[in-house]
Amino acid sequence: MNENPNAPVLRLSGLTKRYDDTLALDAVDLRVDRGEIVVLLGLSGSGKSTLLRHINGLETPSAGSVEVLGESVPQMRGRRLRGLRSRVGFIFQQFELVGPLTVLENVLTGALGALRGPRLGLFSYPRELKHRALTHLDRVGLLDRAYQRADTLSGGQQQRVAIARALMQNPEVLLADEPVASLDPESSAQVMALIREIAAADGLTVVCSLHQVDLAISWADRIVGLRHGSRVLDLPAEGLSRAEVMEIYGRVATSTAELEAVERELSAPGAGGAVSAVEQPELVR
Ligand SMILES: Nc1ncnc2c1ncn2[C@@H]1O[C@H](COP(=O)(O)OP(=O)(O)OP(=O)(O)O)[C@@H](O)[C@H]1O
Ligand SMILES: [Mg+2]
Repeated sequence: MNENPNAPVLRLSGLTKRYDDTLALDAVDLRVDRGEIVVLLGLSGSGKSTLLRHINGLETPSAGSVEVLGESVPQMRGRRLRGLRSRVGFIFQQFELVGPLTVLENVLTGALGALRGPRLGLFSYPRELKHRALTHLDRVGLLDRAYQRADTLSGGQQQRVAIARALMQNPEVLLADEPVASLDPESSAQVMALIREIAAADGLTVVCSLHQVDLAISWADRIVGLRHGSRVLDLPAEGLSRAEVMEIYGRVATSTAELEAVERELSAPGAGGAVSAVEQPELVR
């Protein structure tokens, strides 16, 4: 493929998505370059999932354009869309593993896009793929769990299996929608560190939605803030303080109640930031 190496991995222009009365995305412009680690930060309902779902063609824009790896996504159908999706891995808040199957089989399902027909049982996968799946399990530290049922693992372990499954596609881009929202702080830190480590080693571009400001600042290269479907913040994470992020949210909050909601939802326990946000652990989803 003749791709310009300097072309952005992702370019959204005027991306707008309307569902009946709801404007989920409001003329969002966003460019992400190869190897960047970007966090989408925003309140519940701000449009994070909707934005991510446009990147791999799960949603069609009401207006505007979505270009991924040099191709226009909304026009894609069938084989071309499957081709694009094979280059874009996706991990979800609820892991989306098949509970009764073994860890290894779950990882192998990540390669289904490249195989013909359904697979029944481990024996039906080519040996080479099983070898690759075990290598990925080793990378996420779960080789010893390969033959255990997926639903017997802890949440953090299940998310690591989901990462290994995404790696089976050899993706160039990794999308993650609140990957640690269901995890305790320690597992969250492990999973986020793993994503960064793998992204650096494999040269992946990552777009990840998060709720926690402190985690976002310490983890991302760049933070994009969404509010009511609009991009209200787009800055390098380095040197950005918690107070600055909150201030930018605050500046566009239209009422005290809304500002309080922003502070509550985006606050993390034990944060050493300058803002005296109410520290309520149960609000870190
Ligand atoms: N399929 C749909 N039909 C109707 N409205 C939708 C649909 N999907 C999303 N919306 C609306 O679009 C807005 C943005 O939703 P989205 O799920 O993208 O938010 P989010 O930032 O991911 O929120 P959360 O943090 O709760 O996951 C919300 O108001 C939501 O109700
Ligand atoms: Mg969401």
